[in-house]
Amino acid sequence: MHSMSSSSRPRSLSGIQPTAESFHLGNYFGAIRQWVRLQDDHDAFYFIADLHALTVQPEPATLRTRIHRSAAQLLAAGVDPERSALFCQSHVPEHTQLAWVFNCLTGFGEAGRMTQFKDKSAKAGADKASVGLFTYPILQAADILLYDPHHVPVGEDQRQHLELSRNLAQRFNHHYGETFRQPEAYILEGTAKIVDLQEPTAKMSKSASAPNGIVDLLDDPKRAAKKIRSAVTDSGDEIRYDPETKPGISGLLSLYATIEQTSVDAVVAQFEGQQYGHLKVALADLVADLVGSFGERTRSYLDDPAELDRILARGAARAREVAGPVVADVYDKVGLVRGA
Ligand code: TRP
Repeated sequence: MHSMSSSSRPRSLSGIQPTAESFHLGNYFGAIRQWVRLQDDHDAFYFIADLHALTVQPEPATLRTRIHRSAAQLLAAGVDPERSALFCQSHVPEHTQLAWVFNCLTGFGEAGRMTQFKDKSAKAGADKASVGLFTYPILQAADILLYDPHHVPVGEDQRQHLELSRNLAQRFNHHYGETFRQPEAYILEGTAKIVDLQEPTAKMSKSASAPNGIVDLLDDPKRAAKKIRSAVTDSGDEIRYDPETKPGISGLLSLYATIEQTSVDAVVAQFEGQQYGHLKVALADLVADLVGSFGERTRSYLDDPAELDRILARGAARAREVAGPVVADVYDKVGLVRGA
């Protein structure tokens, strides 16, 4: 465990909700790949946001499965439990303990201005949206500030939540004395935007228009390849990067460049003079390889649930070493008294 003990390296922290059977390419390239990279030079804390997933009342058996599948996929993606603390949010009670203090520091109107809450509650219907959905970003602020991270790798859609965390850190420090660092978002621009294959002006997301619009990391490779081949493309036949007039082909070029870790220009040059079909077939092969090996690695973790539990338990223990003293300090600073 030597490599997981505290060090002077900067910290990174992030969480992902276990809300699907499989993560998709957008999750992977938008966030998870950055988690994996940051491990090289950061002390990393990564967790499955199972409490956040409760905000929409998932079926218990479904949630249980998805938590394990999420952990297995993060490991398959390269989160290394020897170097990073990988844990379930619910195994570290300090998250909810700190969240309460932050609930009491957040204005009703301030929470109501969160665009994700507005979108989600509008979809659910005002009466159906839970209070948990309302306070979701406040729990997220607790998730973050407990670990004093320098970097929080997240997708663009989390920018406002990050801003709330920064505001709460500042507010707490102002009222109770210097305690929290204001964390920086770590949002990878450009290549990180993976678009919906059927509706290329939208980003790839679980709430996508059609199931064919997203490639799941646990898709069968043949099915994944087929989704790429049947992606919507644009009128004309020239392979050119122009998201305005050619959103379809531009999305495919950018996905290709992202997988190959090269520039879009290099991919455009590679396919110069060729037709859409050539690009699609080549990209379909890349994607099939990617999900094929990813699926195998994920299944090998799922085949050993005891080991998976051990990894999560170790991660939670490491997280609590950091989070425990922070909550004790906060409770003290706000004027709570120690229990006997
Ligand atoms: N809200 C994040 C998302 O949906 C998940 C999340 C919860 C998170 N807590 C976090 C991300 C803390 C970063 C840090 O993507």
